[in-house]
Amino acid sequence: MNVLGIETSCDETGVAVYDIVTGGAAGLRAHAVYSQIALHAEYGGVVPELASRDHVRKLLPLIRQTLDEAGLKLSDIDGVAYTAGPGLVGALLVGAAVGRSLAWALEVPALAVHHMEGHLLAPLLEDGAPEPPFVALLVSGGHTQLIAVDAIGRYRLLGETLDDAAGEAFDKTAKMMGLPYPGGPHLARLAEQGVPGRFKFARPMTDRPGLDFSFSGLKTQVLLAWRDCDQSDQTRADIARGFEDAVVDTLAIKCERALDAAGCDVLIVAGGVGANKRLRAKLAEMCERRGGRACFPRPSLCTDNGAMIAFAGALRLQAGQYDDAAIRATPRWDMATLPGLVA
Ligand code: KG4
Ligand code: ZN
Repeated sequence: MNVLGIETSCDETGVAVYDIVTGGAAGLRAHAVYSQIALHAEYGGVVPELASRDHVRKLLPLIRQTLDEAGLKLSDIDGVAYTAGPGLVGALLVGAAVGRSLAWALEVPALAVHHMEGHLLAPLLEDGAPEPPFVALLVSGGHTQLIAVDAIGRYRLLGETLDDAAGEAFDKTAKMMGLPYPGGPHLARLAEQGVPGRFKFARPMTDRPGLDFSFSGLKTQVLLAWRDCDQSDQTRADIARGFEDAVVDTLAIKCERALDAAGCDVLIVAGGVGANKRLRAKLAEMCERRGGRACFPRPSLCTDNGAMIAFAGALRLQAGQYDDAAIRATPRWDMATLPGLVA
């Protein structure tokens, strides 16, 4: 069963074909991502209208390219899954209109997929994936959430950020120190040259019980440190290292608490910040110490992509779920309202 996945919620056009019968990593027949980074770079952030227009330009050629790479024809597609939210409404509408119309023309079922469920399920596309229950850490540019996954489709929010998302904190901090957009990966690369411990920032909200996060104060601490230092290349790297260590430690402390609260030792991690090497190492070590494990998607499936949408859609379509003919775009959408995979 070949499911075409379409992702256009923000500044990446992603397309993939996932074959749920083959399953595992081999089920991913092909996937392609076109990033709009260069388009938005001169503005220092995503410009929604430019994003929508670029999805219009890139989506159909990317679908053709992905089908070619998979060695498939349009008539081999058994279902279409597209991101319906959360995200930028204009950008979402492009993928939704193309995805829903294509399914209509091919007379196959279509399904509106929740972008964060796509991220959350991405680690399960890899071989040797765990079965629920487990705890999921979702760390992207717009979200930082700890979720108890009782079953696929049954999500309980354990904690979330009260202000900036982890990725947003990386991006804003990087921008403050003059790094190019989007700053997260640039800051992480710079941190590799930094001396650990020269700058020690707070681990916000770890001194009290609870599973919520707050990253905006940390950003201010970095701003003050950056303003008052010599601003040399080495100092910039040292500050980057101090910031990254603070975010990674904070996430690891809260993940461990969430595992305690949920009574399990398996953590899955997804979203763009999940590509961060130091975060991956720290969470793997923490879970192993408890006799459990941490599972991640490959780094290219941490950031926005069509594979996670094809996979999430394939699981639901296989369970018999599909939508009516409406073109759905839901910029704000609570994941807890999703139906379970089995009734
Ligand atoms: O999941 P994603 O691609 O888009 C959203 O749905 O938000 O996440 C993008 C975020 C950005 O904030 C980006 O800076 C961050 O993930 N990011 C990283 C790394 N790679 C991407 N942050 C830290 N270290 C990285 N290696
Ligand atoms: Zn995302």
